[in-house]
Amino acid sequence: MTRIRKAVFPVAGLGTRFLPATKTVPKEMLPIVDRPLIQYAVDEAVEAGCDTLVFVTNRYKHAVADYFDKAYELEQKLEKSGRTEQLDLVRNILPPHVRAVFVTQAEALGLGHAVLCAKPIVGDEPFAVLLPDDLIWNRQRGAGGPGALRQMADEAEATGASVIAVQDVPPAQTGSYGIVATGDFDGRSAPIRAIVEKPRPEVAPSNLAVVGRYVLDGRIFDLLEKTTPGAGGEIQLTDAIAKLLAERPVHAYRFQGTRFDCGTHLGLIEATIRYALDHETLSDAARGMMQDALSELGVVDLD
Ligand code: UTP
Repeated sequence: MTRIRKAVFPVAGLGTRFLPATKTVPKEMLPIVDRPLIQYAVDEAVEAGCDTLVFVTNRYKHAVADYFDKAYELEQKLEKSGRTEQLDLVRNILPPHVRAVFVTQAEALGLGHAVLCAKPIVGDEPFAVLLPDDLIWNRQRGAGGPGALRQMADEAEATGASVIAVQDVPPAQTGSYGIVATGDFDGRSAPIRAIVEKPRPEVAPSNLAVVGRYVLDGRIFDLLEKTTPGAGGEIQLTDAIAKLLAERPVHAYRFQGTRFDCGTHLGLIEATIRYALDHETLSDAARGMMQDALSELGVVDLD
């Protein structure tokens, strides 16, 4: 498979689990310490070699487009007042060789439908899909490795297969994920034999759950066009992948890194704690703050 160049970010969901905040702030703009979720996903895509980023948004999500747009007034003010560090932060949201393209999903008809909205930009080449609320961390200071998408893009390039990120989850949680059945693993990857959306634990084929990173053959668009609404009345990406399996190889990939489900309250809190504890300038203060909070509650005395 040729190296992926294009990455699709479906960000047109309603984000109901974060209401009331998401009434006005898109879920993808919620920050982990100092950067919004979308920035972490974009950095991962750029690191994997993508230079065209396709954001599938809806009419309420101007904030996402504004974030990647140039902020003339702000830049002028920061420049005039000599705040070069902040100026660099604002200017370097995207590297110069990377372009952002926005397409609209008129109605939230499901993740599969959102991906299909990117077809006119992507064409029939292989591409990535990243769900920014799945934050995958592999950049611990002093111990970081390549991002999850880079690992998957390498696998796709080497094998010619589509590649889907998976993670073992407790069997009771299968109903919250796409679940795959695979052949034997060779290192981190295994051929997918079947994929099913949100199965109850009694009928789940395994406890290997799909998380929000995909490298997909462009053929998926034709298959999505033929996909009718499935689980939850939505057009499911999982159903189109099930059709792709019948035609072309698709690998499950146990990526290296820690995934935080920032589409949930606890996942967002956990990611915030872990990033703060690892932060270049904030980690000592964050650690002290957490120790104080825990000992005040009598939970644990870490001193
Ligand atoms: P989620 O299942 O997390 O739904 O979508 P959601 O609407 O974002 O959040 P909740 O469950 O209401 O809190 C998974 C991904 O698919 C995108 C979402 O933006 C998210 O990145 N999506 C979902 C779309 O772009 N369009 C859709 O129609 C549905």
